[in-house]
Amino acid sequence: MENIKSYVQQHKDRFINELIELLKIPSVSADTAYSQDVIDTAEAVKVSLEKAGCDFVEICDTPGYPIVYGEKIIDKSLPTVLVYGHYDVQPPDPLELWTSPPFEPVIKKTEIHPEGAIFARGSCDDKGQMFMHVKALEYMVQSNTLPCNVKFMIEGEEEVGSKSLSWFVERNQEKLKNDVILISDTGMISNQQPSITTGLRGLSYVEVEVTGPNRDLHSGLYGGAVANPINILAKMIASLHDDDNHITIPGFYDKVQELSLDERAEMGKAPFNLEEYKKALDLKDVYGEKGYVTNERNSIRPTLDVNGIWGGYTGEGAKTVIAGKAFAKISMRLVPNQDWEKITELFTKHFISIAPAGVTVKVKPHHGGQGYVTPIDSIGYKAANMAYTETFGIPAIPVRSGGSIPIVALFEKELKSKTILMGFGLDSDAIHSPNEHFGIFNYLKGIETIPLFYKYFVELSK
Ligand code: BES
Ligand code: MN
Ligand code: MN
Repeated sequence: MENIKSYVQQHKDRFINELIELLKIPSVSADTAYSQDVIDTAEAVKVSLEKAGCDFVEICDTPGYPIVYGEKIIDKSLPTVLVYGHYDVQPPDPLELWTSPPFEPVIKKTEIHPEGAIFARGSCDDKGQMFMHVKALEYMVQSNTLPCNVKFMIEGEEEVGSKSLSWFVERNQEKLKNDVILISDTGMISNQQPSITTGLRGLSYVEVEVTGPNRDLHSGLYGGAVANPINILAKMIASLHDDDNHITIPGFYDKVQELSLDERAEMGKAPFNLEEYKKALDLKDVYGEKGYVTNERNSIRPTLDVNGIWGGYTGEGAKTVIAGKAFAKISMRLVPNQDWEKITELFTKHFISIAPAGVTVKVKPHHGGQGYVTPIDSIGYKAANMAYTETFGIPAIPVRSGGSIPIVALFEKELKSKTILMGFGLDSDAIHSPNEHFGIFNYLKGIETIPLFYKYFVELSK
């Protein structure tokens, strides 16, 4: 029987072309203009799972976008791996900053990806990473090496909060029963140093609206005499951090789990070069909470960031105006034990309380989710580490990520199983940004590593 390495070598052009076809469909879940494309992508994922060897595949309707469910059950007494991924993507804008159109995938070489990377929205997050699992299944079925049962659950609303997935998971506990959940929707340190994500941050996402006068005003006739909603909003937002960059919302840090100095020292051993980090982003210096280093600030510490702010006149030239309203979208990244609904409540109360009498403030919660941490002594973690060790030649390092996949905490609560985050992307792959890409090396390495996870997971489960 041919092994996975030679199978990948033999079929890599087809693997790349099949992914490219999937990337051509603009499955932007946030924008209803693309809704037919999102639905078409679910259909394409279904067909790919059937071709890869699932015995049963269905498109499950939900109140929102459909969930693709597939399975291959070889023996009920064997363990079951549940693969989760998402086929929806982030909006591609700003379009003018793409060097090639976001839904016309092309392969280009980069410094980090000398063997080429596929440039397209969703190439890394998450179509490319999800599709590695489909191809890994194809290999295991073709070579008759699938050692256990496998279920796939691929959703189309991850980038907008996974509302329908929560609905689906609550109603399908039996169908989704599994021994471990496997996800590739995170990253790793570098192509030379694999890592396994052991933590994700939670999220609270809100939109605020500050209203001043009942209409836009002449900024000469009224300026200085009424509250300008944009000035006020800027002041309110600025006050949410103190001089040490701590967040000032009362109670915000109450539940935050502080890591011991030993744990922080352990984290500090992961390779990280501050000079390279700054250079990659063209920054003179980094910025953040006093008392913590960069890799702590973006993983074990909670944050508050404005994601967008608007109001007034932003067109060409100058218009003298005091806008009636100002708006901002604000995200708070949370750490394990911070409850996102409680944090949303604390934010709302505080933000309304700091508004001066000349304006009224509304806070609209968008979505959120809990953070996640997973131990490194589970069978799943060990199996993943054995798989990486074999394909990369060195063990993986456990790393807590700053990103969020809110559904992971829900899986643990509803399905009572641990999630293993085997990501193959790089931070430099520009997910959610213009020119998102996914290395050919990473894509093929993922396809090679995944079957080994199955093998070791089953061996360790015995
Ligand atoms: N795949 C990402 C999350 C991610 C990326 C985690 C890299 C760790 C490393 C996911 O698609 C995502 O973008 N999640 C959103 C949250 C969601 C509720 C919109 C995020 O983190 O902003
Ligand atoms: Mn993702
Ligand atoms: Mn994403």
